Amino acid sequence: MFMSLIRNRRSIRSFSDKEIEPEKIALLIEAALRSPSSRSLNPWEFVLVRDKGMLDQLSSSKPHGATFLKHAPLGIVVLADPKKCDVWVEDASIASTYIQLAAENLGLTSCWIQIRNREFGPGKMACEQVADLLNIPAHIEVESIIAIGYPVDSLPGHPKESLDYTKVHDGIYGKNFS
Ligand SMILES: Cc1cc2nc3c(=O)[nH]c(=O)nc-3n(C[C@H](O)[C@H](O)[C@H](O)COP(=O)(O)O)c2cc1C
Repeated sequence: MFMSLIRNRRSIRSFSDKEIEPEKIALLIEAALRSPSSRSLNPWEFVLVRDKGMLDQLSSSKPHGATFLKHAPLGIVVLADPKKCDVWVEDASIASTYIQLAAENLGLTSCWIQIRNREFGPGKMACEQVADLLNIPAHIEVESIIAIGYPVDSLPGHPKESLDYTKVHDGIYGKNFS
């Protein structure tokens, strides 16, 4: 089941108008809260955004790679508190991935929007823009926004032949895995 899910998963950036059922949103949140974190410190927090106007504003948080958010019925903003854990980036990334895999499992589709280390525009970072829009306290960082919805189209999973097995070293660096 899991291998089939990851073989077919793709980032999809176009969504149908269909709203996501509340039961599915609850499962997405459960998945996020079940994601593992270093020392179980759980530094992450999440903002669910369903309001069309807010999704529209968030879709301009950076110049490229976020515009499709305005057509998604749901965005989950993944935050973390760096004071709670030094490896909060890893923790927030794992939570983002858990949300994406749970979405896939529920017949939804998703795409990660990178916010950390991205610019909104001259002199302002994307995380500051998102924080302004969502009233996020200054000590909380924004990792990503996961755009989620029902797909209108699909992309084929990456074929097995496209996987780069030269990246895998067997026992010692440089020895091919076969
Ligand atoms: C850390 C990370 C950041 C990403 N940021 C963006 C983004 O800002 N905008 C976007 O459209 N896609 C983003 N993506 C999606 C990637 O572009 C996508 O996963 C990659 O092209 C491979 O395509 P696939 O997911 O369909 O296999 C991001 C993915 C990851 C893992």
